[in-house]
Amino acid sequence: MFIGVTGYNHESSAALVDNNGVLVNFYIEESLSRIKGDKSFPWRSIKKLLESSNIEIKDIERVAFYERPLSAFLHIVKEASFHMPRSLGLLTHQFRNFNRSSVSCYLDFAKFFRGLETKLIYSDHHLSHTLTALAYSNSKKDICSVVVDGFGDRSTASISQIVDPTEINELWECPYPVSLGLFYSTITDYLGFAINEGEYKVMGLASFGDSKSKSAKLISGLMGWDSNSNKIISDMSYFDYHLSTSNSFNSKLEELLGPARNPFVPLIPGDSDFQRCADIARGAQDLTIYLLRKIFTHAYKITRSRRFLFSGGVSMNSASIDSLAQLPFIDEIIIPPSPGDPGCAIGAAFYSYIKSNSYSDLNISKPSLFPSLKEIRNDEFLAEEIISNEFTVLEKDKEDAFLKAAELISVGEVIGTVLSNNETGPRALGNRSLICDGKNKDAVKYLNTVIKNRSPFRPTAPAMRYEIAEKYYKLRPEIYECYKSMSATCKCLKDNVSLEFPTTHVDGTARIQIVENKSSLDKLLSILETMGIEIIANSSLNVSGDPTCFDLVDGLMVCSRTKLRYLLTDLGLLKRKT
Ligand SMILES: [Fe+2]
Repeated sequence: MFIGVTGYNHESSAALVDNNGVLVNFYIEESLSRIKGDKSFPWRSIKKLLESSNIEIKDIERVAFYERPLSAFLHIVKEASFHMPRSLGLLTHQFRNFNRSSVSCYLDFAKFFRGLETKLIYSDHHLSHTLTALAYSNSKKDICSVVVDGFGDRSTASISQIVDPTEINELWECPYPVSLGLFYSTITDYLGFAINEGEYKVMGLASFGDSKSKSAKLISGLMGWDSNSNKIISDMSYFDYHLSTSNSFNSKLEELLGPARNPFVPLIPGDSDFQRCADIARGAQDLTIYLLRKIFTHAYKITRSRRFLFSGGVSMNSASIDSLAQLPFIDEIIIPPSPGDPGCAIGAAFYSYIKSNSYSDLNISKPSLFPSLKEIRNDEFLAEEIISNEFTVLEKDKEDAFLKAAELISVGEVIGTVLSNNETGPRALGNRSLICDGKNKDAVKYLNTVIKNRSPFRPTAPAMRYEIAEKYYKLRPEIYECYKSMSATCKCLKDNVSLEFPTTHVDGTARIQIVENKSSLDKLLSILETMGIEIIANSSLNVSGDPTCFDLVDGLMVCSRTKLRYLLTDLGLLKRKT
């Protein structure tokens, strides 16, 4: 058995792969600790991997950390040292925290799981991303991997040619500190949103912006592509993310774009500063799409591959994927369901598997979008107690519960789901979701604003079958797999009724989900379609700012903290008493 682990920089996580190349389980630490963005050593995740599979440390052949910590540490220190004394704070922070950084991860392995530290190996950061994406591809050889993120252990973007899982050759890289991911995070910060959380908001806000506006054009000058050297270039004089622990940009950016937005002032469409912020977001989005197209075009030039894996944090920019799919040389783009750093635990686990004697003949099974075993929390008595005190069980039988839930949806109710396995990535695909009739404007608005308290400029995703999606949206077969994990937006068909759907964004796009056969939403849609409902609005089951629900207790807590009244669970359909 093989474990992959991430941590210390982004949400930490752990994954388990068995001796046959099957992903057994994957946990993100924040799901278990309930601390949003938990980046501490993922001891809960590793412990749960061992317990849920009934194995011990002696059964683990190798454990792989998802990056080379010393390389990451030295790259940051080296770059900062060029900018003394401005970077003194960052350098001091780096050295003071040396013992608490990923460089010392073996100490945490030894502390929490004695013996596991002797089995520790390290994978290259972008290789971990690549192997995560490769696992979700049907083909395991002769494919190109593009990774674009904030910062790996030495570079911020890379192109690799995959001959087979044992022969992955990196052909191009973008060295730190030039970084498309950190650029986007900087604009996120400038616009008053939290880095690593607010990038989705910038993407949603961009749809209100004007590409021809002065602000959008000014943004386009911050980064570019040098056609002679085939390199991304960046005017670093506007950025401080490589010099400071607290500032991602400096006063020069504010002189260029105006004052950074005050995060404590709500951003409402129609308000005085809204259009300026939207134009800046538009500029950042346009520049991102432009550079991604350049990277993919260069990737095709140097690999001649027409099939691509795409991973790293920037691949979560779902609004850019439709544009990439239109590049003339693209046959297919695969994005894993967890393409950011937490998902690297999956790639790291496969790395240790591929390096072992157990690996042979491309034997890597494509994981499900819902890999975890059915979750029964240790405190299941707590769930039963909460249910008996605060809920009524409307229907206990599973079939009846789904039928009743569909009836409630058909009359405009919003339903929460805690069904079977967790989703792998950050997007709720129906098992930990808030759902309602996707064409019912009042229900979607209630879900979005009253229950979720989301920003008014962020749309809710519509989920449906492929045959239904074809009627309303311009689908691209090159990114069909991306639609299954909500990784790509698409445009509504011209003059189509879908332009009026409440799940359609202001720019006539939607982040659709094509539901998997035999999934929870597939089962629900088969009932709803008999009631004339073919589209479900789907959002993650959580309170704004919390991690997505992991188990039934978390789902019950959402009910108690919001106006959500109904919960569809493996124990039946529940209704909150008050
Ligand atoms: Fe990364």
